[in-house]
Amino acid sequence: MVKVKKVKKCLFPAAGYGTRFLPVTKAIPKEMLPILTKPLLQYGVSEAVEADMNIMAVVTGRGKRAIEDHFDTSFELEHQIQGTSKESLLSELKTLKEKCTFSYTRQIEMKGLGHAILSGEVLIGNAPFAVVLADDLCDNEDGEGVLAQMVKLYDKYQCSVVAVEEVPKEETQKYGVIAGTAINDELIRVDDMVEKPKPEDAPSNLAIIGRYILTPDIFDILRKTPPGRGGEIQITDALLKQAEIGKVIAYKFKGKRFDCGSVDGFVEATNYFYNKEK
Ligand code: G1P
Repeated sequence: MVKVKKVKKCLFPAAGYGTRFLPVTKAIPKEMLPILTKPLLQYGVSEAVEADMNIMAVVTGRGKRAIEDHFDTSFELEHQIQGTSKESLLSELKTLKEKCTFSYTRQIEMKGLGHAILSGEVLIGNAPFAVVLADDLCDNEDGEGVLAQMVKLYDKYQCSVVAVEEVPKEETQKYGVIAGTAINDELIRVDDMVEKPKPEDAPSNLAIIGRYILTPDIFDILRKTPPGRGGEIQITDALLKQAEIGKVIAYKFKGKRFDCGSVDGFVEATNYFYNKEK
């Protein structure tokens, strides 16, 4: 029997400039912007750990050192607050650090999400892996997180899985959009996908959000993928190659997703977590 590989690795493309959040992102990585007291990236790492992943791989770029410092030990600070009421504020982060390893590579040139994912190959190797775009913040109050839901599907179908949600037709230009054949109410076998189509060209209103499980053959496909929309190497174009041989499933996930790359979504997420945690 072929030994099935579990998804243990999670890749976080985090090299982008975050221009929509200037001026704050001039010196602070957008992945470090806080929702309440936790940076966006920490929410993503928690979601991956909840899905039983323990190898975190981050594709960074210039000006992103705060990310590495966040997931490292700060001896002086931790010593300072040891035994005080403040200690508990770091306990969740401490648990994450104990449960997983963090490794980093730099994307030297900004050539798109597909290129960022390909830059992560050195950290991932020949294993299935998750991709989390930290500015898409997901939460499922009623049960397991989105990545945990997707890992179950990967285990069953053994192919790439993308999380999708319905968006108003006029917003298709912001997303990768899929089409295909329904397997059931929540799953679609994908046979078409287009990066940021105009509403009139969109094959549906099912938009990919920033959660993927990818099989490692995606790296070879990405290497051969020419620049697409915006002159960038698009993960959507590479996934289409897998979809053409029936190897991509789209999943209408359970839970909420906030577009924290936009000010509106960021404020919405802040209010949501404030009300949830107070
Ligand atoms: C990227 C992907 C797009 C996807 C989106 C989800 O776009 O290229 O296919 O729908 O993430 O957030 P970006 O938002 O980086 O422009």
